[in-house]
Amino acid sequence: MQYRVKLFLFFVFFISNHFLAQTYKNANADIELRISDLISKMTLEEKIGQMQQLNLWQMNSKVIDTVAKGKVGSFLNAGNKQDKIKLQKAAVEKSRLGIPLIFGRDVIHGYKTVLPIPLGQASTWNPDLVKRGTEISAREAAEDGIHWTFAPMIDIARDPRWGRIAESCGEDPYLASIIGSAMVKGFQGNDLKSANTIAACAKHYVGYGAAEGGKDYNTTLIPERELRDVYLKPFHAVVKAGVATLMSAFNDLNGVPTTGNSFTLKTILRDEWKFDGFVVSDWTSVDELIKHGFAKDGKEAALKAVNAGVNMEMVSENYTKYLKQLVESGKISTQWIDELVAGILRIKFKLGLFENPYIRNFEESTILCKTNKAIAKEIATESVVMLQNKNQTLPLKTKSLKSLAIIGPLADAPKDQLGTWTLDGKAKNTITPLTAITKEFGETIKIKYVKAMATCRSNDTKYFQNAIDAVKQSDAALLFLGEDANLSGETHSRAFINLPGNQEDLITELSKLGKPLVLIIMAGRPLTFGNITDKVNSILYAWHPGTMGGEAISDIIFGKTSPSGKLPVTFPRTVGQVPIYYNHKNTGRPPSANQLGRTLGTPENPEGFASYYLDVDFTPAYYFGYGESYSSFNYSDLTLSKKNIDFNDTLKVSVTVANTGKYKAKETIQLYIRDLYASVTRPVKELKRFKKVEFIPGETKKINFELTSEDLKFYDINMQYNTEPGDFELFVGSSANDKDLLKTNFKLTGSKEE
Ligand code: NOJ
Repeated sequence: MQYRVKLFLFFVFFISNHFLAQTYKNANADIELRISDLISKMTLEEKIGQMQQLNLWQMNSKVIDTVAKGKVGSFLNAGNKQDKIKLQKAAVEKSRLGIPLIFGRDVIHGYKTVLPIPLGQASTWNPDLVKRGTEISAREAAEDGIHWTFAPMIDIARDPRWGRIAESCGEDPYLASIIGSAMVKGFQGNDLKSANTIAACAKHYVGYGAAEGGKDYNTTLIPERELRDVYLKPFHAVVKAGVATLMSAFNDLNGVPTTGNSFTLKTILRDEWKFDGFVVSDWTSVDELIKHGFAKDGKEAALKAVNAGVNMEMVSENYTKYLKQLVESGKISTQWIDELVAGILRIKFKLGLFENPYIRNFEESTILCKTNKAIAKEIATESVVMLQNKNQTLPLKTKSLKSLAIIGPLADAPKDQLGTWTLDGKAKNTITPLTAITKEFGETIKIKYVKAMATCRSNDTKYFQNAIDAVKQSDAALLFLGEDANLSGETHSRAFINLPGNQEDLITELSKLGKPLVLIIMAGRPLTFGNITDKVNSILYAWHPGTMGGEAISDIIFGKTSPSGKLPVTFPRTVGQVPIYYNHKNTGRPPSANQLGRTLGTPENPEGFASYYLDVDFTPAYYFGYGESYSSFNYSDLTLSKKNIDFNDTLKVSVTVANTGKYKAKETIQLYIRDLYASVTRPVKELKRFKKVEFIPGETKKINFELTSEDLKFYDINMQYNTEPGDFELFVGSSANDKDLLKTNFKLTGSKEE
């Protein structure tokens, strides 16, 4: 609703209501009327105050005074419960209008009960489970007086060098939309007023994941069609799911930094999507408009950010310093300021902060409770992706196993297994694999633990002999390797994405002993480890699995549950293939299977001329959607309800999936399409549906999907979001690799108008 219309409605209400003087305080009044009433009472300074967010690592009396003067609308990292109460008291009881503060914090993958990193959560392909995870995180955070989290991060990430890929939901717009929306629903529930929910913040709007060279904060150049079809997709999905706020990003997008980008913030977000919550800048990203060379000084930075549509400035204080002058000199209209302030107040009203400004009363704390740990464990379990299992080495057979070597710097690294962005998770609450396995099997299996390397990055070999001795004396060995937590996350990009330090050498040495080796990789990104895959029997990719990671991994290793994670991102063979992603374009010279198999590093006998490398296969190490199980699944009878559909039809797709193995297991059935020709080139595959289903051994199920012409839309040659008639391929199977897919085709005829 336009602000003027709201104002008019408010006026009508004003005339007919005696109690209007305090409408904004009336919990029963319509939120839009409360907003209009409050704005009509606010001075320009008070409005600007709402638009300023400050960081507060350390409480001080000066800040109380700032709050009492109405000069701040929000804090991030605002100390403990007592600090928050003091600050809120100053806002509610001392400031002229008593507008409550909104307290934000990065509750990225769990609060005190830490869940797997978001990339691990995306590997579950289980949105319901992920939603339960964010529900418990919201409740735990709410118990400490947090109203708002800066999550989910739904930046499409196609570059494993980028450290923040760990925080993402992977490379695919559809998967990120589904997982991101599940996270939003989990945080926010059905009613933001509920004591158990907090406001979510989708970030980083937009394109941040496309940082050139995978280097954090780097330039992004994304053509509009790619921006809309790929990078904006998950953001649109979460806006439709009702996300309360968005965060503008750090990156320069096509020459216009995203924190000053009116095309993305106004035209798309507000005009096209009708978003009516608010946008907070990223940390000092308003100020950084100066370093970008997009603003001459702080005043121009504030002008550009506000006029683009950033409602709230995080940390830097250009809004506080310059907005008054900018409004008074007519550079920013009062009406626009009112619109932006309305967005902030709308969320404060929706959260019920005016009625319940203080930390809510909870009968019992859920922080780190049994249920929360059980959910964290379930997510961790489903996030583990099995990439290799030679000779069915896994699960380990407890009956015949008498001794076990547990090797590696991540076997007992309680802080590292929590992963990046864990402000509130504590190492002391973490259950490591060593703890879990020793607790459960310590009596029956002789366990020898050798850390072998001081950290994952160590280059010395002085403890190798201890590891060799331990493995020699054991029936099998578990190697816990990968990346320390601080190798991924913000500003933790890597140019090499191999196993760091001396890890490969350690594996090589241990492989000479002829014992079954199980490699468990904990990491914040896809790593390249092709050099050692034939030296180990099994590989489990466990990401950074969080508080309950140890138990989850133990359950998988010993067969209490079958691995069911699937990759949300393509794994390259070498960093030189990056960016590599499944939904790429075909090119005019696609490579073919007979060009596979050249020996890495010997670019001899080149033959042309296709889109590939001379020195490495063009295929990835592991495909998007890939993940093995202890069981095996057979796909058959891919059937379509029709071979020809028109724009109003629903295409019904069915496939028969059978568990042909010996284990109860979950399988994620994936449906992809390919639009064979169009007014613009289309990806070779696009994920359109998936279902994660549990099967008992021998069980066969018919899996059904439905698609409509809506699912086939893309931005056409005229930048219209349309479906074009034509021929499509449809694939169903267990990964994006052709060999894992059944294929059929259909035709779309007619036009939308018919
Ligand atoms: C900077 C990060 O980019 C962002 O994701 C985070 O939410 C803010 N800092 C606040 O801590």
